[in-house]
Amino acid sequence: MITQDFQQKLSEKAKQAEAIVYRFLPPESGYQKTVLEAMNYSVEAGGKRLRPLFMMASFRLFGGQGEIVEPFMAAMEMIHTYSLVHDDLPAMDNDDYRRGRHTTWKAYGEAMGVLAGDGLLNYAFETALKAFDVAASEEYPRVISALQVLAKKAGVYGMIGGQCADVEAEKKQIELTEDRLLFIHELKTAALIQSSLMIGAILAGASPEQADKMERLGYDIGVAFQIQDDILDVIGDSEELGKPVGSDAKNEKQTYVTIHGLENSRKEVERLSKEAISLLQELNGDSAFLEGMVDYLIDRRK
Ligand code: IPE
Ligand code: IPE
Ligand code: MG
Ligand code: MG
Ligand code: MG
Repeated sequence: MITQDFQQKLSEKAKQAEAIVYRFLPPESGYQKTVLEAMNYSVEAGGKRLRPLFMMASFRLFGGQGEIVEPFMAAMEMIHTYSLVHDDLPAMDNDDYRRGRHTTWKAYGEAMGVLAGDGLLNYAFETALKAFDVAASEEYPRVISALQVLAKKAGVYGMIGGQCADVEAEKKQIELTEDRLLFIHELKTAALIQSSLMIGAILAGASPEQADKMERLGYDIGVAFQIQDDILDVIGDSEELGKPVGSDAKNEKQTYVTIHGLENSRKEVERLSKEAISLLQELNGDSAFLEGMVDYLIDRRK
């Protein structure tokens, strides 16, 4: 059960995370003004800011202090937002609404939709590299290791790889085995959550073993998160979600829900979330906030 107290804390922390992300957005000027506006339009549309929240919470859990995590929080939200901007394109899920507004391609046209996504991905790395400006030289190895995780989990062995397997399984072009379904969920969605948790830990100076634990935790949270997203695509409310329901049915997607049904999907979200909470408790740190986030996500309606 989520208390009002927790809800309040979560919304305060999300606002703080958002303010950090906004500080790193590019100014909208020059002959490339339109693409800069389109990039900021999608980030400023809102969203739950879960990935920067996870990163900050993990950074704190491992005793991290100072600003070194901030450029990475912004970079992560830029990469996540670009993944949504491209996911909504006509060539992919072909959706018109996101975060309660027209999708970027609907508002700026397809060419700008493609370029805004490209711009956000590249600007994410330009932003993460700013961590070197605030890091002490003995912290450079942590920044390098965080950059390696950021790059890999966003790429073909991470989010992009998952999106590839996802679109190829549309319209039953490929039979969706359990293995492939979990591959899709792990890569398209868990990868960026793993990356957020791992980067927070690495920047705080956690050991490689602890970073591995955060990767396992991110798997459970991320797969549960995508199953809940598939559930909400069926039973959610588009006003509350800020994006359409029925997008998966429209695209004849095979999802956790089409394969296992709503009831079993709900049970799997709970099972994975319980596993995530036990992993957090094994860490012997102050993981109360992260445990609260996992609890909050089980019953989320947006
Ligand atoms: C949506 O992510 C895409 C998925 C990976 C399911 P979020 O539900 O975190 O989207 P925002 O950031 O809150 O808009
Ligand atoms: C997308 O999954 C995950 C991404 C990597 C963007 P979905 O296509 O289900 O996400 P929504 O429902 O459009 O947010
Ligand atoms: Mg999609
Ligand atoms: Mg989509
Ligand atoms: Mg979805």
